[in-house]
Amino acid sequence: MAHSPSRCVRVAILISGRGSNMQALARTVRTESLPVQICSVLASRADAPGLDWARAHGLPADVISHRDFGDRAAFDGALQRHLDALDLDYILLAGFMRVLGADFVRHFAGRIINIHPSLLPAFPGLHTHAQALAQGVQWHGCTVHFVTPVLDHGPIIAQGAIPVLADDTPERLAARLLPVEHRLYSQVLRWLAQHRVVLLDDGRVRIPGEPHRAWAGAAPFESREFHEQK
Ligand code: GRF
Repeated sequence: MAHSPSRCVRVAILISGRGSNMQALARTVRTESLPVQICSVLASRADAPGLDWARAHGLPADVISHRDFGDRAAFDGALQRHLDALDLDYILLAGFMRVLGADFVRHFAGRIINIHPSLLPAFPGLHTHAQALAQGVQWHGCTVHFVTPVLDHGPIIAQGAIPVLADDTPERLAARLLPVEHRLYSQVLRWLAQHRVVLLDDGRVRIPGEPHRAWAGAAPFESREFHEQK
């Protein structure tokens, strides 16, 4: 895929559920008039609630249900044909709950991006908030990264962190992290729209002019002071 600076960046957003990250990305494109074309909001299940939002907001909403295929290779093949036909620059995974096979990932190498709700490489896989609480980490967060054939692994584009609070539950932690996810993924989309995200040969990412790619929410001490002042 040749990147021409004048060309609109063509993306598909892959979801499996409510699609709040997809909504945040779509809002950012719309409100900031980013040169990004969302060519497909593609769900792996027909009942993904995010599909209704996409349709209501005039986005092309498509379904390739994993249930219609006998095995992962057949599902991946159908997904690949759909996405190839769209001539995409990037495939943005946003709560897409299917593991993509190595052949699929290699086919789109350097073009698949995911958001994962932990500070990778800590806590790959599911139940990341519960994992973080069980380990007693004091900072938790989210990572936007390029996808490799290894699950929840790959060159890190940006990370957002929040403090873990004493009374956190997995649900509270997830709810406090979600707006950080939206902010982080939207920022990455701005960089993609500006053709600034460079994948280096050493497997790291560089964004010219952007030395800092970390965002942290309020530290607990600051928030306590804030509450005491009130
Ligand atoms: C998010 O926490 C995302 O990081 C993870 O799955 C969740 C999807 O939420 N991969 P939503 O569908 O974007 O609301």
